[in-house]
Amino acid sequence: MHAKASKALALSQLFMLAEATLKPRLPDGLGLTPHMGWSSWNTGQCDAASEQYALDAANQFVELGLKDLGYEYVNIDDCWSTTARDESGNLVPDPAKWPNGIPAVIDQIHELGLKFGLYGCAGEMTCASFPGSWGHEEQDAQLLASWGVDFWKHDACFTPCTTSPNPQTCWDGSIDTKPWYGTMRDALQGVADTKAILFNICQWGRNEVWTWGADYGHSWRIESDNWGDWDSVIRIGAHAGDLAQYGGPGGFNDLDMLFVGNGVLTEAQERLHFGLWAIAKSPLVIGTDLTTIGESSLNILKNKDIIDINQDELGIPAGYFQPSNADAPVAGQLYPYWAGELSNGTVVAFAAAAGANTYSVSFADVPGLEAGTYNWKELYSGEEGSGEELSFDVAQDDIAIFRVTPA
Ligand code: GLA
Repeated sequence: MHAKASKALALSQLFMLAEATLKPRLPDGLGLTPHMGWSSWNTGQCDAASEQYALDAANQFVELGLKDLGYEYVNIDDCWSTTARDESGNLVPDPAKWPNGIPAVIDQIHELGLKFGLYGCAGEMTCASFPGSWGHEEQDAQLLASWGVDFWKHDACFTPCTTSPNPQTCWDGSIDTKPWYGTMRDALQGVADTKAILFNICQWGRNEVWTWGADYGHSWRIESDNWGDWDSVIRIGAHAGDLAQYGGPGGFNDLDMLFVGNGVLTEAQERLHFGLWAIAKSPLVIGTDLTTIGESSLNILKNKDIIDINQDELGIPAGYFQPSNADAPVAGQLYPYWAGELSNGTVVAFAAAAGANTYSVSFADVPGLEAGTYNWKELYSGEEGSGEELSFDVAQDDIAIFRVTPA
């Protein structure tokens, strides 16, 4: 693309960002920055949906200094309940996993100054075949509020479908998923006076959820699951690069739970995974056992400079920009060049999924910046510099993330 055209595109993107930021969000005022926490799912799927895992995670938040950095939500995903509702139609915590019941665990977690989240589903069953909220939305919202639950993830399995052979994730492309989430949103808003509950929409990016999710929940999954492999990180990250304009305070693109510390990605890949999620203003939800996490993974999750970017009060996601000397992005591939506005500067990142390289951009090409001299700090290495352009060596699969401020 010609330099001028690229700059014009950048400016129009900025206007769209401003517009998205000012869009009305849910009236409860929750989720002004992306939520941070831990979830049982990537940690140990069904096995980790227990009291023991929840309390271990909460205690580790305090012990490892994660709480001080903003990690707050201890979220239990699928498989926490019994396979049937009780005679009143209420969901029942599995007594083998919750020997003391859920409210007692929530009390302990609240005493630590943390929050507790649960998972459910818009359909008749959850993805792992436990009872879903279809037809029980108000009853479930009341139960959650009575227990003191702070977060609810609403999945999309076993919803009505006509054509798909797979009832678990069935969708023929024409079904409007909005009403399912509207029903649960209204149920949760109906108990908001008793208990404000952060609402996470999980329907894997159907119906372009990013265009309407802000009126329905505080965050929405943009893609199918992060399966814990490098391909997932590339697939989800590449999609997020195009969706920056839709996130803002009160409603964020959710790139899915993290796979940092699970022994599947290299250290460089873990840096890129965490870094991209953070600058794209995704919720940062740890998905590993914090009682056994390795030091290098923990250090990545504890990078305060990068967390500060994720939690910046403007809530503007970084997205792709095309420098005048670079080729255009290719769908499905992770483009190296990312930028976004911050309350006290600009974040610029080079993501090297396509290979080790010396990446260079003129600050004049960065959306929101004029030609001139800027100071920069790279937030993983701590390296600092100053100049009219930014040039940095990035290793294969690694990322460099810069906070840029006028000199
Ligand atoms: C779906 C969701 C996942 C997880 C599982 C649980 O696949 O997308 O995030 O909640 O269900 O069964």
